[in-house]
Amino acid sequence: SEGGAIPHESWSFSGAFGTFDRAALQRGYQVYKEVCAACHSMQYIAFRNLTDIGFSEAEVKALAAQYEYPALDESGEPITRKGLPSDHFVSPYANELAAKAANGGAIPPDLSLMAKARAGGPDYIHAILTGYVEPPQGFVLNPGSNFNAHFPGQQIAMPKPLNDDQVTYADGTKATVEQMSRDVSTFLMWTAEPKLEERKNIGVKVMGFLGILTVFLYLSYRRVRRKVH
Ligand code: HEM
Repeated sequence: SEGGAIPHESWSFSGAFGTFDRAALQRGYQVYKEVCAACHSMQYIAFRNLTDIGFSEAEVKALAAQYEYPALDESGEPITRKGLPSDHFVSPYANELAAKAANGGAIPPDLSLMAKARAGGPDYIHAILTGYVEPPQGFVLNPGSNFNAHFPGQQIAMPKPLNDDQVTYADGTKATVEQMSRDVSTFLMWTAEPKLEERKNIGVKVMGFLGILTVFLYLSYRRVRRKVH
């Protein structure tokens, strides 16, 4: 059976004038980093991209340096080096086999484009994260599955990833499941469409331009008509 209907959330980035809430994006990154990154990769995002959501160059450098990457020294020997702003986020597993082995046969999908890959986008992600409820009486779960009201089939291999106070937010926001779900869904919308604000901004300007052009065209049409008569 299909998952339950996805509740429609209201987001700051929705609508023609939508913008990202920078504080929510930074909290969402914290949730990804401290919770989701244990299982989900984010292959299209590099540390330097985080300057877009309000981190300074120095903060980005320090965040990247928390990770290690394989490299070769001058003599070609394999070594590890500290991450650089240009590095993409580290993947939690070496390959798909390792990912499957660690997750009872299911592969945690890359989250970079998840907000664009599924119908409902950020609403869907939020619904999955808040959808761990008691199964209806008599519902038979497959081994290794968890009931989720919004995942197609209502069984998901991902264990409930968020519980209240799962993270301690740097800005003091209370980390409820609802708050963390909204923040990480916002962050995943940004990773999937980092140019959303530019796109909407251009749209608004184009509409404004067309509106003004319409007025001038109408005025000049009237002038021309006046001379004709
Ligand atoms: C699936 C997000 C944490 C393991 C999913 C899906 C989403 C998601 C949206 C559904 C993907 C789809 O429609 O195909 C997140 C977020 C997390 C998080 C935002 C952090 C808040 C975790 C953690 C684990 C995990 C910590 C491992 C312990 C999985 C697995 C699947 C999955 C195995 C595949 C489920 C299946 O196919 O049945 N995750 N996840 N996730 N996640 Fe997570």
